[in-house]
Amino acid sequence: MEHKHIPGLVDVIKVDQPADILQIARDDTLDRVFGSGKPLLNSLLVRRILGVLSYNGHRFPTMSARKAIGREIQQDALWKKLNTAAPNIRAAPADLEPLAAWIRESNPDVAVGPLVQQIIGRLFSPTFEADDNTWAAAEVIAASLAPGNAVRNLASKVTGKVTRAKALLASMVGGDLAGVHAVSVAIHNVVRGLNQMRCLYLDTSVRQTLAPEMASERCLFAPGVVLRQATSNGTVGGCPYTAGTLLLLELEKARQASGDESMIFLADTWSRCPAEQWVPAMLEGVWRRVTNA
Ligand code: HEM
Repeated sequence: MEHKHIPGLVDVIKVDQPADILQIARDDTLDRVFGSGKPLLNSLLVRRILGVLSYNGHRFPTMSARKAIGREIQQDALWKKLNTAAPNIRAAPADLEPLAAWIRESNPDVAVGPLVQQIIGRLFSPTFEADDNTWAAAEVIAASLAPGNAVRNLASKVTGKVTRAKALLASMVGGDLAGVHAVSVAIHNVVRGLNQMRCLYLDTSVRQTLAPEMASERCLFAPGVVLRQATSNGTVGGCPYTAGTLLLLELEKARQASGDESMIFLADTWSRCPAEQWVPAMLEGVWRRVTNA
């Protein structure tokens, strides 16, 4: 845990222990309300991230407060829809062939991003057609969230590019912001998993022995960081905080150091990922198709 606290300037805690992360994720007073908090750098950081992860004045679900109108109902509806779709994708349907071919053929000229984007996009719109432009839009959005890009992002040219990227993707998923999140932000964790799968496949002994469930498990990566803000004073891992403190939950770092797989989707918490069953099923399906298992 690292607490950067300069009164009046910054108050941010980075949390990388699973037990602390789960305590925070289950605490009602640590939320995603993101009011007009002080100090200065906290509000700048929140404003920058909300600027990227909102569209037409509406926040993406991953930045919405726990009690935001409709959030929980939509989360639950998407969870049920994706769980219903999971058995089919687990069975390695023909739709997964482009991804399977990408893994088998190791052709460096073929980008995996658009292939994954099409699979995820079709969960939200059956006619979603990914191409270089839609994938470039996802990369623009991810790049604008990368740490260290704060100053660059203040330039209106960058802001315009990000807004256009969101507009393009929103128009392709019927304006559903869970869909925009999926094809522009969450997708990068899935792409990372498929790159890992390609490495596994290259090892012929692994290829012949690894069961689809195991392959899927080895290709899951958690988001780098998710955000919370304290709405009242408290303590985590012996570290006191006050209302307004930002907490950066470093899920992937925590998972890698501890092997705690609950970090991946925060499945037993109010913010659980609606794709917590669908993503593993999809990875399983790809491995099954690649290996004819
Ligand atoms: C490897 C892939 C993925 C991982 C590791 C992942 C992980 C997560 C995590 C940890 C959260 C909680 C964020 C927080 O606590 O603030 C979350 C939220 C969310 N995820 Fe995923 N996700 C993945 C893919 C997806 C996909 C493919 C979709 C959609 C099809 C999706 C939709 C969502 C949505 C809508 C939320 C917000 C839930 C809410 O609080 O209302 N995710 N995801």
